[in-house]
Amino acid sequence: MSELIDEDELLLIPGPTTLSSRVRSVMALPQQSHVSPEFYNSFKELLELSRYVFGNSSGLQFAFTGSGSIGMETAVISLLEPGDSVLCLETGYFGHRFTMMADIHGAKTETLVSPLGSHIDYGTVEAKLKSGKFKALLFTHVDTSTSVMNDIAKLAKLARNAGVLSVCDSVCGIGGAQLEFDSLAIDLVLTGSQKALAAPPGATLIALSKQAYEAMEKRKSPIASYYMNLVRWKPVMDDPKIYLTTPAVQVMLGLREALAQVKEEGIENRWKRHEVLAEAFRAGLEALNLKPVPDRESRAPTVTAFYVPDGRAAEMQETLRSKYALHVARGFGDYKDTMLRVGHFGNISATDILSLLSALELTISGSSMIRPGKAVESARPILQQS
Ligand SMILES: Cc1ncc(COP(=O)(O)O)c(C=O)c1O
Repeated sequence: MSELIDEDELLLIPGPTTLSSRVRSVMALPQQSHVSPEFYNSFKELLELSRYVFGNSSGLQFAFTGSGSIGMETAVISLLEPGDSVLCLETGYFGHRFTMMADIHGAKTETLVSPLGSHIDYGTVEAKLKSGKFKALLFTHVDTSTSVMNDIAKLAKLARNAGVLSVCDSVCGIGGAQLEFDSLAIDLVLTGSQKALAAPPGATLIALSKQAYEAMEKRKSPIASYYMNLVRWKPVMDDPKIYLTTPAVQVMLGLREALAQVKEEGIENRWKRHEVLAEAFRAGLEALNLKPVPDRESRAPTVTAFYVPDGRAAEMQETLRSKYALHVARGFGDYKDTMLRVGHFGNISATDILSLLSALELTISGSSMIRPGKAVESARPILQQS
């Protein structure tokens, strides 16, 4: 039998995250039929709750089985036709994944890549969009590989002013970082279930503007996918009694419960909680001389990547796990030895942040002259204010 994660172990990786006992309980119920009235009602509620969390009363709302990448690829395949020109913004690995998907499906991509740690340059985006050749703008809200956050409102507005469809991957944003679909001039926002929504992995959620849906209906070529096809999913969202494929029932029940908990907390309170915890965490990091990857204007309330000394990422990760039962992630690719990444989203509390800072302090204290307690001391005033 594989080793089970202990109840006391805390997932502070950038997704999936620790589940509430309520979410776990609904997922452990006897198997439900996906065509039962009970599941139908739960799914209807899930869609209503998704609208609340996205702030979407003006557009269409979707939720179906699949990881965040299914949501990304669904957006690409449903909106773009082969030969369409797309501007892709890369602020980390996941921005690059979006470009790869658009390339695979035959779009003509042009990329703008920001230097590591910086949000995209909005002036350059504006100038590019003015060329008039792009059908869509693809970008990442918070790129989990670098923890860099782009200003979604600004990018959506630039695209709308230029008559370009805007598509945002907010897999690492929604539920933790401020986002209200109705007040943004945006066409498509997608997320996955396993990050700031604190649901299990396995569902993708999408908000779509009516004009983007009309653009899909007016395509010259048919959408080249059975599953990743928003026009095919629309009637199912209008009436979840319609069968398209069998949903991952337990994942959907867990997601419904997690969304209900977001609503109980209140989305504005949740954004505030994430901001405070992120700020406290970064204050503690700086007290430990651990530098966050993003510059001050590009930091996210959901995830923080930071540099570690002497290429010690693997060893620090292992010490945090084995001695302190805290799971963090290493950097991506070339940064796997020099960076750690922490997801401070979902159900994470002030106590969790203080535990992580103390454990980090104990973990690095062998190699540096840090006064005991300094990290927690730096985080404390920020936590006390809230
Ligand atoms: C910003 C971002 N986009 C997309 C994805 C892809 O999601 P998934 O791994 O669920 O396919 C991730 C996953 O970590 C992500 O962080």
